[in-house]
Amino acid sequence: MSAEKILVTGGAGYIGSHACIELLEAGYDVIVIDNLSNSKPESLARVEKITGKSLCFVQADIRDKQALNDIFNQHEIYAVLHFAGLKAVGESCAQPIRYYQNNVYGTLVLTEMMQQFGIKKIIFSSSATVYGEPDSVKYTEDLPVFGATNPYGKSKAMVEDILKDLPIADDLSNYSNPWNIILLRYFNPIGAHKSGLIGEDPNGIPNNLVPYVSQVAVGKLDQLSVFGGDYPTIDGTGVRDYIHVVDLVKGHIQALQALNNSSGCRAYNLGAGKGYSVLEIVSAFERITGKTIKYKIVERRAGDIAENYADSSLALRELNWQTEKNLDDMVTDTWRWQSANPNGYK
Ligand code: NAD
Ligand code: UD1
Repeated sequence: MSAEKILVTGGAGYIGSHACIELLEAGYDVIVIDNLSNSKPESLARVEKITGKSLCFVQADIRDKQALNDIFNQHEIYAVLHFAGLKAVGESCAQPIRYYQNNVYGTLVLTEMMQQFGIKKIIFSSSATVYGEPDSVKYTEDLPVFGATNPYGKSKAMVEDILKDLPIADDLSNYSNPWNIILLRYFNPIGAHKSGLIGEDPNGIPNNLVPYVSQVAVGKLDQLSVFGGDYPTIDGTGVRDYIHVVDLVKGHIQALQALNNSSGCRAYNLGAGKGYSVLEIVSAFERITGKTIKYKIVERRAGDIAENYADSSLALRELNWQTEKNLDDMVTDTWRWQSANPNGYK
C-alpha cells in the first residue's frame, strides 16, 4: 500500500516546516503549498536534509483555485494540514482587509476546492487567542470562542465558525463522505528542531517574546522591553503557556490518526498546561546561554492579558497526546538554532 499523502499549506513556515519533518518521519508523503510570503524555500531544503526524504513543493497561494485544482488532480490527498496564514497581531490591526482576505477567504477557497474533490479531512491551526479575555486563566475548550481583540484573532475565530458549519451541512444531506475537522488551538509555540537546522525566522524586529529574547542573546538586539511589571502574577510580568514546536507538531500527527475513525468538527487545546512569566523566560535564557539579557520594564502592551495556560486534558484523553519537553529543552533548542543561524535562513 502506498503512503497516505498530506497537503501541508504554509509548510515552508516555522510550524509547517517542523510538521513536514514529523510527517515524513511517520511515513506520510508530503505536498507543500506555500506562497513564501513569510518564509524561504531553504527551510524545505533543510527538512529534506534532516529526514533524508524528499517532499513535493508547489509555490502558490491557497487562494489560487487553479493551483489547488492541479494539486488535487495530480495527488490523491488523504488530508490537509492547514497552517497557511498571516499571524502578526499589530500588522493585522493596520491591515485588516489583507488579514481577512488571506486567512478567511483563503480558507474558503481551500475548503471549496477540497469539497469539489471529495477531500474532507482537515486540521486547522487555530490559536488560544480565540478565547478572547475569559475570566479563567486556565483555558478549557468549552469556554466560548468570543472577544478576540484584533483582526488576526478574529480571523481565526471566523475560520473556526466556518469549519464548524461544514459537517452540519453533511448531516442535512446525509453524505457518505463526511467532513472530518480538527481545530487545534495553539498556546505559545517556541523552540526548534534538535538539529538546529530549522527554526523560527521572523521578518524584521520580532513581535513575540522568545524570538526577541534570543536575538538579544545573540547580540542582534540591544535590550528587551518587558511589557508591564504590575500584572497580578508571580512577579508582575505576563505569564504564558510555552509549548515546544516539536511537541506541537506531534499533536498534529496524533490528530491525523484520530481523523481515521470519526467525523464532525472538534477543537483541542495544545499547550503544556503550565505558565511561565516573562522574567522566568529571561532567566532561563541567561542560565542556558551564559549571556546577560538586558531588559527594561515598560508600559503594558495594548491587548495583552495577565496570564493564561492550557487545560490540554481533552487532547490527552482523545488524541493520546501530551507535551514531553520542558522549558530547558525549549530554550536550549531555540538557542541552538539562533546561535547557528543568527540571520535565520539568509
Ligand atoms: P509562519 O508565518 O512561519 O508560516 C505560515 C506560512 O504560510 C508561511 O510560510 C507563509 O509564507 C505561508 N502563507 C501565508 N499565507 C499564505 C497563502 N495565502 N497561501 C500560501 N501560503 C501562505 O507562521 P507559523 O508560526 O508557522 O504559524 C502557522 C500557523 O499557525 C498560522 O496559521 C498561525 O496563525 C498559526 N498559529 C501560530 C502561532 C505562533 O505563535 N507561531 C500561534 C497560534 C497559531
Ligand atoms: C501573541 C498574540 C497572539 C498570537 C501569539 C503567537 C498579542 C496580544 N497576542 O501572543 O494573538 O497567537 O502571539 O503569535 O499580540 N512580551 C514582552 N516583550 C516583548 C514581547 C512580548 O514583554 O518584546 C511579553 C508579552 O507582554 C506577553 C509575553 O511576553 O506577556 C508573551 O508575548 P508574545 O510572545 O507576544 O505572545 P502572546 O502575547 O501570548
